[in-house]
Amino acid sequence: MAVLDQLTSQQAIELENKYGAHNYHPLPVVLSRGEGVHVWDVEGKKYYDFLSAYSAVNQGHCHPKIVGAMVQQAQTLSLTSRAFYNDMLGKYEKFATELFGFDKLLPMNTGAEAVETALKISRKWAYEVKGIAENEAQIIVCENNFHGRTTTIISFSNDAVARTNFGPFTDGFIKIEYDNLKALEDVLNSSKNIAAFLVEPIQGEAGVYVPSEGYLAAAKALCKKHNVLFIADEVQTGIARTGRLLATCGNCSCAYKNCSGEPEVKADILILGKALSGGAYPVSAVLANDHIMNVIKPGNHGSTFGGNPIAAAVAIAALEVVQEENLAENAFKLGEIFRAELTEFAKHNDLVKSVRGKGLLNAILINDTEESSTAWDICIKLRDNGLLAKPTHGNIIRFAPPLVMNEEQLLDCISIIKKTISTFEK
Ligand SMILES: Cc1ncc(COP(=O)(O)O)c(C=O)c1O
Repeated sequence: MAVLDQLTSQQAIELENKYGAHNYHPLPVVLSRGEGVHVWDVEGKKYYDFLSAYSAVNQGHCHPKIVGAMVQQAQTLSLTSRAFYNDMLGKYEKFATELFGFDKLLPMNTGAEAVETALKISRKWAYEVKGIAENEAQIIVCENNFHGRTTTIISFSNDAVARTNFGPFTDGFIKIEYDNLKALEDVLNSSKNIAAFLVEPIQGEAGVYVPSEGYLAAAKALCKKHNVLFIADEVQTGIARTGRLLATCGNCSCAYKNCSGEPEVKADILILGKALSGGAYPVSAVLANDHIMNVIKPGNHGSTFGGNPIAAAVAIAALEVVQEENLAENAFKLGEIFRAELTEFAKHNDLVKSVRGKGLLNAILINDTEESSTAWDICIKLRDNGLLAKPTHGNIIRFAPPLVMNEEQLLDCISIIKKTISTFEK
């Protein structure tokens, strides 16, 4: 068999199993093509993508504008490293900082790297600006967080699978309950050594937990009172996914054209990844104002690929698509329909315990134990019926289609989901 021979699904799965590390447990489907809200397997079967590569493909698969920008830049200049300037990075930094309303951007590649970057910036700020004694800085995080898989990040995870036998861990983190303002206030009152509070506006991997109305704004106000940086990890919730440009959007100085300006919260440090490139290329970023970002000096932090010309061109195109195609507004509108339809369905179906989410980041809770295979079995059946989704934890299924979906397609998907789950009723 030549290396690039066309494979059957079974052959492709066997190759991955034999030659790849087993660090994922994929749903058995082998994809070879994508366009918009659809993907196709190697046998030519068409599916609705209802995961969007964990919210990276918000702009839809192979968006022509994003692919065009990537190809054009790849044929012109791909990588210079930051040893030299390139003529794309500054343009991208100006565009993105104006769009999101921050002074500066630090470019990285993956979400986890951007989280690491934000942690480093906040520690340095704590020592050099806030005046915390050397090595005493603490960062508050939330239980059941997901911020990536690096050694420091898993140090403050409470997912045993992610942590077991990966110690020793990094010190300097205090874990509190998510969506609990009292817990945050208690820690802030009890220590003068807090540098930052790191939070997901909605806990995605944990199972799409939406905090109480006003939680984020109140948490930000507490942080401000205690001179603590509020870090929003919007790697999954950002770039229109939850029906606004950012889940923390509003009351801010961003330049998104239809920004509702509803009061929520403006982060001190904003972390973006995934859909910052529309899923076309690994692009992540940390944004902050000068009084925070200026603690970073040459040699403090970096990455060979971070801020490369292809990433810059792709990110500009991906963000333009979000604006030009009104993706936040579409996610808001379709999200309302999705939750209304499935909430109604859940009233008459014993297997769906609840439906939750914001915009097009939603989940259903299956009425079975975390250890049960029911959610997985439903996802297999959804696959057979032409829709791809994946459980997050044993009994929760996340539904996050590309935001370029139209209402007719969404109604078709809702009908597939209802029909599929109905066949599981006891
Ligand atoms: C909130 C959040 N932060 C960080 C990450 C890590 O991103 P990456 O997988 O690109 O490292 C993820 C990935 O799912 C995420 O959901």
